[in-house]
Formats: sequence, structure tokens, C-alpha cells
Amino acid sequence: MEHAIVFLDRESVDANVRRPNFPHTYKEYDSTWTPEEIVDRLKDATIAIINKVPMRADTLKQLPKLKLIAVAATGTDVVDKAYCKQHGITVVNIRNYAFNTVPEHVIALIFALRRNLLTYVKDVANGVWNKSSQFCFLTHPIRDIAGSTLGIVGYGALGKSIGKRAEALGMNVLPYDVMPQPGLVDFETILKESDIITLHVPLTPETKNMIGAKELKMMKPTAILINTARGGLVDEAALAAALKDGTIAGAGFDVLTVEPPKEGNILIDESIPNLIVTPHVAWASKEAMQILSDQLIDNIEAFVAGKPQNVVE
Ligand SMILES: NC(=O)c1ccc[n+]([C@@H]2O[C@H](COP(=O)([O-])OP(=O)(O)OC[C@H]3O[C@@H](n4cnc5c(N)ncnc54)[C@H](O)[C@@H]3O)[C@@H](O)[C@H]2O)c1
Repeated sequence: MEHAIVFLDRESVDANVRRPNFPHTYKEYDSTWTPEEIVDRLKDATIAIINKVPMRADTLKQLPKLKLIAVAATGTDVVDKAYCKQHGITVVNIRNYAFNTVPEHVIALIFALRRNLLTYVKDVANGVWNKSSQFCFLTHPIRDIAGSTLGIVGYGALGKSIGKRAEALGMNVLPYDVMPQPGLVDFETILKESDIITLHVPLTPETKNMIGAKELKMMKPTAILINTARGGLVDEAALAAALKDGTIAGAGFDVLTVEPPKEGNILIDESIPNLIVTPHVAWASKEAMQILSDQLIDNIEAFVAGKPQNVVE
């Protein structure tokens, strides 16, 4: 049987997507949004590749030929997995591709914030250096990374990967997790003793708003907070207030509660000092996207060979 493969949101992956090693037809679209478009484009497909295109029961009902949904991401919340299970559609996803890209984004944010890098860039652009009486000017504190203490909340794959890099930079690492493992400290110790706290837990009812006004007050006034995990782990209004009144010294966020923040967000505010917000791109280095793309095709080939891998239940 010749498989018909259709990639519905090709522009979400900026990498080479190799052709699978079995007889097939292949079609790709930059993006696909409406249920009508999805059904029209997938009507003859046996294999659908998607990143964020919603695959709900109403849509899937109209696609009886579909055998495999290969998700080009880790999160599969856009797919109605219960429907797929009942109707023999296999769902596969991408795993463990972000082991360099997320840790490097975290380290980049830590360096930028500890050195007040963006604030200096802004001051220079605004002419502060031109007017300076000295060869340099010191409007903001600059702190070393070496010798500082990094609290890692969620000591899983990414937490550990950051821990290794942090130790190589001469940082003291304090890990915290709910899963017992050697060397962990408690959450209160993380809050009180860290110069930098970085979050790497999933968003669950237990972790939602795990950092709010109370926790921010327990942190050092010189501390910075990094969130590249999920929006909703930190109370955004409490953080905006804490940065403005100096309760903590800086924050680096790659994730917000609503993405994209079409209605705005309290953290997208030029007047908040030493805050860096990036648009959920920690995952997206060129190298990581190529790993992701290669694994996507590996998953499809494994399925067609009768040995499915990375199956999502
Ligand atoms: N910004 C991005 O582009 C990007 C990219 C990849 C992953 N992520 C996010 O990073 C996060 C971590 O990913 P990972 O691959 O390391 O996951 P992981 O599953 O390997 O690690 C998560 C850890 O959190 C721990 N944990 C769960 N609930 C906890 C709680 N209440 N308190 C303390 N620890 C708790 C788990 O025991 C586990 O060790 C995820 O939320 C993921 O979605 C973001």
C-alpha cells in the first residue's frame, strides 16, 4: 500500500524534513486552521503530520483513511487521543530533543539578567554614555555567575541538564523535586538561599501559581527568577509588582499564561525593570529543530515498519 502523507503546518518547523524510506506521496502546507481546510487537505491522507493543528473528534470523524498522526512536538493536547484510541489511529510525538536548546536559553537569560545587559544596552541607546564623565558608567549592578547559587525547581531531564552546565560555570546547585532523589533540598530552602531560581516542572494543579506574592517575598532582593517551563507556574501580577518594588532583582520568562498574548499581558511592559520576555522560543534552536524533524520521520518510518515508537496513549 502506498501511504499518503500530508504535513498541515510545515512552517512551524524550520528544518530539513527528509522523505521517508517507503513508497508514499507527500504534500505540505505552510499552515492550516479551519476544520473545513483540515478535512479537505487530509481526506486522502493515511498519515497526518501536525504541530499545533487541532485534531478534534468532529474533524477526525470525516477522515476514515487516517492511520497515523505524527505530532512534530512533545505536547499532544491538540489531538483528541480518546477518539484516536477508539478508532485505531496511532498518535506519536517527539521526545527528548530540547536537551541543549532549553538549557542554553536558560543560561543566556541568567547571564543577561545578572549583568543587567539589556538595561545597559537601553541606557547606551538613550545617550547615557555620551554624557558620562567617566570612561564607563555604572547605573546598574553587575553580578558574576561563578559563586552564585542556582535553585532548580523540577530536577527532571532539563533541570539536570541545566545543573550540569551550572556546575561547570562554578555555580552552587540546589535541586528540588517531588520525586525523591539524592541531594535534593526543600522548596523553602530554594526560595531563601538561591541567587537565581529556574523552573522546570510541568503545569499541573499542584504547580499552578507555585510562585506567588508570598514566595517572591521569601526570595532574596537580589534574586532573579527564570521560567522557561510553562506560563501559569508564576502569578504574573505578583511578579510584575515584585519587580517594580524591588522585592526581587530580575526575571527571564519564555512562557506566559496565554500564548500568543493577543490581549496583552501584565509582563509585557517596558517600565518593568530587568525583565526579559522571549516568545516561547527556548525549544527552537536550529539544531534542536533538526533533531525534532529527524525524529518525526524516524517515528513515521517505525510505524510503517510495524514497530511504532514514541506512541502517545
Ligand atoms: N520553553 C520551551 O520551549 C520548552 C521546551 C521544552 C520543554 N519545556 C517545558 O519544560 C518543562 C520540563 O521539561 P522536562 O523535559 O525536564 O520534564 P521532566 O518530566 O523530565 O521533568 C519534570 C520534573 O518536574 C518534577 N515535578 C513534577 N511536579 C512537581 C512539583 N509539584 N514540584 C516539584 N517538582 C515537580 C517531576 O518529578 C520531574 O522530575 C516542561 O514543563 C516542558 O513543557 C519548555
